[in-house]
Amino acid sequence: MKILSVVGARPNFMKIAPFIRAIEKHNAGITTPIEHVLVHTGQHYDHQMSQKFFDDLGIPPADIHLGVGSGSHAEQVGNTMIAFEKVVMEQRPDWVVVVGDVNATLACSVTAKKMHVKCCHIEAGLRSGDWTMPEEINRLVTDRLSDLLLTPDRLSIENLKKEGAPDGKIGFVGNIMIDTLEEQLEVARGLDPADIVKRNTLHEDAPMPVLEPERYVVMTLHRPSNVDHREIFTALVDFLCDEVAAEMPLLWPIHPRAWKQLQEFGLWERVNGAGNLVLMNPIGYHDMLRLNMTAKLLFTDSGGLQEECTVLGTPCLTLRWNTERPITLWEHGGASVLVGNNVERIREAYREALARDRVPVRPELWDGHTAGRCLQAIIRAGK
Ligand code: UD1
Repeated sequence: MKILSVVGARPNFMKIAPFIRAIEKHNAGITTPIEHVLVHTGQHYDHQMSQKFFDDLGIPPADIHLGVGSGSHAEQVGNTMIAFEKVVMEQRPDWVVVVGDVNATLACSVTAKKMHVKCCHIEAGLRSGDWTMPEEINRLVTDRLSDLLLTPDRLSIENLKKEGAPDGKIGFVGNIMIDTLEEQLEVARGLDPADIVKRNTLHEDAPMPVLEPERYVVMTLHRPSNVDHREIFTALVDFLCDEVAAEMPLLWPIHPRAWKQLQEFGLWERVNGAGNLVLMNPIGYHDMLRLNMTAKLLFTDSGGLQEECTVLGTPCLTLRWNTERPITLWEHGGASVLVGNNVERIREAYREALARDRVPVRPELWDGHTAGRCLQAIIRAGK
């Protein structure tokens, strides 16, 4: 059997790493090993957004790099499809495996199906219900087309069934990101938060805040809904600088999109001048995991961090109005609370979260063995 798996953007890397390891484990000592080809579309290309994760997670170099780079959604998806079609033609895989919900996921699932190649989607069935999110469109199309829909939780199975997916295509495997978390926990535990800040800060000469366990906040922001609108982003920045950083150190690894928008909206000076706010380059997997382990709370609009906070028990204020990962929500036993981007609401939830203790939770099958189940599902489905 020949499997071609695809990565494109940062959140894909922690999902593919354990899958590749599962293939290697399966192949050890077998006479007809699975042939595996890793394709990187190149949507993320900065060292800190891509290669750093290959290094941190021990992902072998991609066999094929499409180099599509940045651009509008149509450009990214279109360029990926054009390049990926040639790869599929040449490689003739039995399966294309896509993960998550980024533009690479959409582009490669569509291309595979148009070339009559079977497609497996790892992390199928997540739905935010918000069709203004590019990721939701990517999820809907990829799931509609895929031959094998491997879900992280039971709520996702219900979503797929409601959309008419036949039972035979659906497999409940658990959350593959948590395989990576389990594998990397010990390495992360060995890191020192102060050293992480020192290595990644934008301002080496600025005085370093003292980082005591459960006495600092971590933040990540990159969704267009938060960073692409001047009024919203400005109000968020004001709240974070004036109220959060005023209380305890606030660590902010800045995503390239947020970086660009801070400059575009004239907020760059403001955030650089704020005391107790540590601006950092995007950080690697181990660094983020370590900071998360003893943060008092996280502000984020990332999907993956909602999941990691749930397993680590870190109170997570999710700067979104909806989530495709309801299992991570407080009302489902998780660590995340949806706070949107209205400052009043964020303030209230922030006060509540400060009073909350860390409560780690394990949703069903988030047990570190998802990748093996994914591979077995593909093998069972056959060539
Ligand atoms: C993408 C994913 C999103 C995911 C996020 C994680 C889609 C639709 N979105 O969003 O689901 O949560 O990645 O990071 O696929 N840029 C760089 N260097 C890079 C990559 C991007 O500077 O290595 C800049 C470019 O100016 C680019 C902008 O960041 O225009 C946004 O990048 P893009 O890949 O379009 O989307 P993300 O916001 O990263």
